[in-house]
Amino acid sequence: MQLAKRLDQLPPYLFVEISRKIAEKRAQGIDVVTFAIGDPDIPTPRHILDALHEAAEAPVNHRYPETEGLAEVRQAIARWYKRRFNITLDPNKEVLPLIGSKEGIGHMALCLIDPGDIALVPDPGYPVYSVGTMFAGGECYFLPLTEENDFLPDFDAIPSDTAERAKVLWLNYPNNPTTAIADLSFFEEAVAFAKRYNIAICHDAPYTEVAYDDYEPVSILQAAGAMDVAIEFHSFSKSYNMTGWRIGMAVGNPTLIEALMRVKSNLDSGIPQAIQQMAIAAVDGPQDCINEHNETYQRRRDKVVEALTRLGLRVYPPKASLYVWARVPDGFTSIEFATRMLEEIAVVVTPGVGYGKQGENYIRLSITTPDERIDEGIRRLESWSFSPKVNA
Ligand SMILES: Cc1ncc(COP(=O)(O)O)c(C=O)c1O
Repeated sequence: MQLAKRLDQLPPYLFVEISRKIAEKRAQGIDVVTFAIGDPDIPTPRHILDALHEAAEAPVNHRYPETEGLAEVRQAIARWYKRRFNITLDPNKEVLPLIGSKEGIGHMALCLIDPGDIALVPDPGYPVYSVGTMFAGGECYFLPLTEENDFLPDFDAIPSDTAERAKVLWLNYPNNPTTAIADLSFFEEAVAFAKRYNIAICHDAPYTEVAYDDYEPVSILQAAGAMDVAIEFHSFSKSYNMTGWRIGMAVGNPTLIEALMRVKSNLDSGIPQAIQQMAIAAVDGPQDCINEHNETYQRRRDKVVEALTRLGLRVYPPKASLYVWARVPDGFTSIEFATRMLEEIAVVVTPGVGYGKQGENYIRLSITTPDERIDEGIRRLESWSFSPKVNA
């Protein structure tokens, strides 16, 4: 048996590796505190679960769903975009429910990339942008996100022959892993760049509802002309603590939505309808849960930022997202620092280099860890004394 060569190009999925290390430690009886994956610890709100229970009883929901999703869920998503961002979407042409946004992001590359084409991909970035590009036979041109540029790509630094070969520009704000945010003027600049070179923009925006200090993230579709070139990926995962149910959406340019629908309809059979009913309950129901969750995350953010600062790491309190992005002290790589933390105090953080070369020298901490475990992690950090290069 011979497996396809493309599998050799796949990097190990970061979180699979981290989960393996955690399992190893736990098997040795070690109490591990993990700040690794961004997976809300707070349960899905009750009214959303009630919608699932009710929908599970209806035989109509026991059958194959349609790939394009229920008309009611597409309409509910369009209503939410109108209320939240004042964007008018045609639920029949500009909205497509997904089996989690990760699924749509992965499949989108098949809609835009032919062998040899270029995808413009942020570095550091959510790994699915580059892996999807590789599966489609394309090449990534990485856009460095650096502290000096507020973790925003510099479009002027992209060589014009590269831009001419590019088919897609991937963006993600509020950003994972850097926690950076972008305003409408940045998105307008991105739209102008995409129009100049006839490039599609895929904006990945699962964190617009996870924000602090009264900051309200924007949608790229609010930027003038964005509907001509852009599609936005969004998710119920982080806004409504629904990572386990797997439902997200793509909205925006109808040509891009139709292309994604064509690819998907050949590969999957849609989202279980009872889960689509949860999504309707989520966006049409009471929204207080969002503020309540954000208050919890904000409290955790403050504690984690304070502890890391006391430890001597450079860290900016994020305005949005479920993460804290911290610069490791000089003399460490991100993997060395994360490994020492795991070995010496059994605290798990994600090494920034796992998100790309530019993530080197940073670690990411997720604040989706229950309060008492956050406190335990902080106690361990405070009693930790590390010095660079013990072997040097
Ligand atoms: C930037 C980014 N995009 C997309 C996703 C995928 O979210 P989901 O597939 O749960 O909608 C994640 C999950 O962590 C993410 O961080």
